[in-house]
Amino acid sequence: MSAEPIAGTTDRRIASLLALFANNPMIVISGARIAREIGVSRSTVWRWVERLRSLEVKVKGHPRSGYVIEKVPDLLLPNLLRPRPRGNEFGKHIHHFFKTDSTNRVAMELGFAGEPQGTLVVAEEQSAGRGRAGRTWHSERASGIYASFLLRPKLSPADAPLITLLAGLSAREAVRQQTGCLADLRWPNDLLLNGKKLGGILTEMHAEPGRIHFAVVGIGLNVNQTRFPEKLASAATSLRMETSRMHSRLELLLRLIQQFEGDYDRFSARGAASILSEFAAASSFAEGKRVRITDGSESFIGTTAGLEPNGLLRVRRDDRSVYVVVSGDLAEVP
Ligand code: BTN
Repeated sequence: MSAEPIAGTTDRRIASLLALFANNPMIVISGARIAREIGVSRSTVWRWVERLRSLEVKVKGHPRSGYVIEKVPDLLLPNLLRPRPRGNEFGKHIHHFFKTDSTNRVAMELGFAGEPQGTLVVAEEQSAGRGRAGRTWHSERASGIYASFLLRPKLSPADAPLITLLAGLSAREAVRQQTGCLADLRWPNDLLLNGKKLGGILTEMHAEPGRIHFAVVGIGLNVNQTRFPEKLASAATSLRMETSRMHSRLELLLRLIQQFEGDYDRFSARGAASILSEFAAASSFAEGKRVRITDGSESFIGTTAGLEPNGLLRVRRDDRSVYVVVSGDLAEVP
């Protein structure tokens, strides 16, 4: 975690408590030992154990006899990430929240506060997760991955769409490595499995003309949800719903950190060409798909016709004119 905790961040000592349990699965640890090792009172240990239980962490026992953890919990705590992220920058500074409004909001705040590139904000739950176009992102507790990376790219704001495409490719690859599921990418930011939304990317930035001061790439992945609220039910899915088994969010987050750092470094060194070609290969929406575009007040049907050099999408209307979509929504036309 970063040296400077911010409001609402998980108390490092709770994280240490969990790490102590995780390192001693099935072993009874006395309340006194825990209190000594973590540096808090025994009553605080008791309170924190109750807190962990409310997060479905299975801790048996009580202050007198000691506590035992039955299963290493799948929480996204930095000191449970093993092996530690190997890269240079990403995941070195992790701010963990049991609950926050939006990891993107927090990461923007950290951007203004001067935190370095690669800083990561993760939450078990978001109360106001942000989606594109002012929508909300359903962020059920301890079921999905809600993660925001702070970047300081040497790019013009006009090239920012490339970052969203890159993050989509990284998330798709992390999911593939962990589960074998190969998601489709719907320009610019959706990961789809069997036509339903598995994840989304939201890039926000602080910029001036010609220069990005910093960007925040928020990644939401539906991992272990078993259902969604009614209004999302027909459009959303999770890895668990697609594969009929649970998946480790912690392992998936580790893969995501490593994949995104590697992809971002390659992009910084080599430029946009590889992102554009990889996205074109990974996305059934990049070229030749009949879609309805809704872009602000515009709505029309056309056929996708590849990407612009900065990652925007070309769509050929039926009168053959080409429209470049800046920030619209795409829906496949059957
Ligand atoms: C979308 O598909 O509309 C984008 C969804 C992005 C959701 C993620 S969850 C982590 C990060 N924090 C947020 O508030 N939003 C993004």
